[in-house]
Amino acid sequence: MKKVTKAIIPAAGLGTRFLPITKALPKPMLPVLDKPTVQYIMEELKNAGIDDVIIVVSPGSEIIERHFSAAQELEKRLIADGKTELYDIARETCSFKVKFVEQKVANGLAGAILCAEKYIGDEPFALLLGDELLIPKEGGKGCISALKNIYESTGKSVIATMEVFGDDVSKYGNIGIKNENDGVMEVGAIVEKPALSDALSNNAIIGRYVLDGKIFSMLKTLKPRNNEIYLTDSLDELAKRGELLACTTEDYRYDVGDKAGYIKANVETALKSPEIGEEIKNYVIELAERIKA
Ligand code: G1P
Repeated sequence: MKKVTKAIIPAAGLGTRFLPITKALPKPMLPVLDKPTVQYIMEELKNAGIDDVIIVVSPGSEIIERHFSAAQELEKRLIADGKTELYDIARETCSFKVKFVEQKVANGLAGAILCAEKYIGDEPFALLLGDELLIPKEGGKGCISALKNIYESTGKSVIATMEVFGDDVSKYGNIGIKNENDGVMEVGAIVEKPALSDALSNNAIIGRYVLDGKIFSMLKTLKPRNNEIYLTDSLDELAKRGELLACTTEDYRYDVGDKAGYIKANVETALKSPEIGEEIKNYVIELAERIKA
């Protein structure tokens, strides 16, 4: 069975929900505590043993490339000052084998994936949407690692899901389940952001996938709707052929493409920080008392 060694991170959105900061700063560089969101996604990949990564960016995103390159002057200075811990932190982002490709036309998620085709060929690949952070629970290896294991043992494309209810159902791709075996679901159909009454189940697609390389030829046949081509359409085709699996993740998930989700990710990451966690915890408790009053 083929191994999953490559990944695509589509990160070419304009970040209009975060204007004005995204005028000059690409959205994947927005920090959660002290790291840009895209670095957390790279770490999820590293935990899964995947280090060959293609980031699909919008034009003018060179600063992301700089983040994953050496910063020679800074490094020299940190060594000279004996600040080896900080030197290691600065060097950490150079350990990824990362390539960049521009998505020149905003033609949807399927369009972004097609931009990376020449780097993937017909290999299977992990797909991680840049707007979602998935942080494993204590001891866990993370969502993409679980999907990789399922692909490598079955040879079938696999997507991550979470349970949603009420109005949230219409915010996500939604799956119909044919069978379930040991936590792995066989998907029968998919609908993109259905009205609650049209939902097939309470299982929503989140932004983590491991896809077989055959998806590229399927994406190329898609007809655009509202000038975009939708990955979901090809996933539905795979599902109807009995070639799509799904698995519910236990990881903590933050939608950092949304202002409230972004702030929650920052607060929770700060609470876990050995450096400032205690101070932030006391502050959050004090703040809760104050706003309750
Ligand atoms: C995309 C997918 C959707 C999925 C969602 C997860 O939608 O099309 O199926 O549920 O990501 O975040 P978007 O949020 O890009 O509109």
